[in-house]
Amino acid sequence: MREINFRLVQISDSHISKFGGFYPDSFEKAVSEINSLKPKPNLIVHCGDLTDYGILLDYEYALEKLEELKPDIEIASGNHDQRNYGNSLFREMVGPLDRVVSLDQATLFILNSPTPDRDEGRLGRRRQQFLEHGLSKVPDDKLKIVVFHHHLVPVPFSGREANVLEDAGDVLHLVLRNRVDFVLMGHRHVGRALKINDTILVNVGTLSSIRTRGRFGHSFNIIDVYSDGSVRITEKNLTLNREFLVLETKRQTG
Ligand SMILES: [Fe+2]
Ligand SMILES: [Fe+2]
Repeated sequence: MREINFRLVQISDSHISKFGGFYPDSFEKAVSEINSLKPKPNLIVHCGDLTDYGILLDYEYALEKLEELKPDIEIASGNHDQRNYGNSLFREMVGPLDRVVSLDQATLFILNSPTPDRDEGRLGRRRQQFLEHGLSKVPDDKLKIVVFHHHLVPVPFSGREANVLEDAGDVLHLVLRNRVDFVLMGHRHVGRALKINDTILVNVGTLSSIRTRGRFGHSFNIIDVYSDGSVRITEKNLTLNREFLVLETKRQTG
């Protein structure tokens, strides 16, 4: 029987703040669902916009809220996190803006896509080189996972396209050429998964921002990789109290 070899919970756009943009009920619901998942996730990945204004009070409150989540969590920085010089607080209170996380089953490249006080995103040549070099060192038996806030390809139902990564073409070429398993993103507050060649691009909806789109509500994703190489991505919708199958596929072979 196939077993889950690796389970990752993908959350994003929590927009934690005491000043308006945060919807705590959904956050609490997510905490209780994530903490009771069986099997327990290997990791939670937050794809950015942890806070709403990037201010000190937001960061303090966000860290307090994150304490409620039992599994380990890695957080990418979002454009809202870098408002009001929030990038300095992210570095100080959350961690480096770019980092590599090595687990037994996977190597994650958490990358900084925002520019302070702007909504646009880019990785830039230096970060692309860092990624390319890092990916070449990941052993074949480990999953390669790249995480950043902005989206690599347009996401439907999320409004007029304005903030796709400025260097999306180069980054897309890089991840496909290096057969990255997953690219995890947020920002658009709408979930979507798309497989291109060997790479699965996964956008997740907002966890707890008041800025939901239409009736999509609040959600998070569970990404399961099984012992037989199959992959299953499920959306847990907190508003509708329902679970949706987003994508079921085989992981790359040979
Ligand atoms: Fe957001
Ligand atoms: Fe964002």
